[in-house]
Amino acid sequence: MLCVEECASGVWRSIDKIPTPFMPEQCNFCGHCAAVCPKSAVEHKGLDEDQIRKIQKKLFNSNGYKELVLSRRSIRQYKDKSVPEDILKNIIDLARYSPTASNSQNVAYTIITDRALLKKISSKLFGFGERVDGWMQTAWGRMILKILRKTDFVITLNKYKDSMDYYIAKTQEGRDFILHHAPVLLLIHGPKNKMFSNDNCSIASTNIINYAHSLGLGTCYIGYLTVAIGFSKTLRRWLKIPKERKVFVSMVLGHPCYSHSFTVPRNKPEITWIQ
Ligand SMILES: Cc1cc2nc3c(=O)[nH]c(=O)nc-3n(C[C@H](O)[C@H](O)[C@H](O)COP(=O)(O)O)c2cc1C
Repeated sequence: MLCVEECASGVWRSIDKIPTPFMPEQCNFCGHCAAVCPKSAVEHKGLDEDQIRKIQKKLFNSNGYKELVLSRRSIRQYKDKSVPEDILKNIIDLARYSPTASNSQNVAYTIITDRALLKKISSKLFGFGERVDGWMQTAWGRMILKILRKTDFVITLNKYKDSMDYYIAKTQEGRDFILHHAPVLLLIHGPKNKMFSNDNCSIASTNIINYAHSLGLGTCYIGYLTVAIGFSKTLRRWLKIPKERKVFVSMVLGHPCYSHSFTVPRNKPEITWIQ
């Protein structure tokens, strides 16, 4: 009866004390019924049996997982070394086991390893930053920034404006402040107007960054690119993002130039207990 207890859609029901698929059309193919039955008694035409295997609980290691999460850092210095395609496929293969709302599994990935395109994207975004910086110095710019000073966008602009000269000089020397010269750019996207697309993509990305770290690879979220893709038709065209999809996560990935020896401090969590 575990399949009946487990089925969130109410498809499996106890009828005459026998587990019976009552409304099979309501099934969302989550696989829980087959996964929970210790006797493998569930037969389900909609599930690919070849993908179902015994769980190896002895491989679980909570201390190891904790150390992995504590030691992951956003990596902004990458070796000039490509990441083999089978490793990238392996990482995405793990991400597909991430939870999705109603088991919609509507997350998809775009992987860019074309160095020329990566350089073009970095230049475009940095050039945009330079133009905004120039505009901020004009009378109009100063006035608008004053009016919008409390918005997230202007707070962020103000944060970086004093270092802009440094960023420009370093960029001219060859540093890449946008994609960090990483060999891989990974975009995670979902259907544009679907509830929970953002959540589905973000959860998949969390598994990706942690799994990549366990494989000795570094990652870094590139939030500015995600925002820019939302505005720029050119970027969407370059990145071949279908019209009906929205990019919720952009991250770079590659072999870190060096590793971190220590953990970092973080704020104490704000928790409201309602007991
Ligand atoms: C949504 C989001 C957007 C981010 N955007 C960028 C970015 O555009 N460029 C960058 O270098 N780092 C970016 N980061 C990385 C953060 O700066 C980083 O996570 C934070 O400083 C904490 O450092 P840690 O990841 O090493 O713990 C982003 C992180 C998140 C979660």
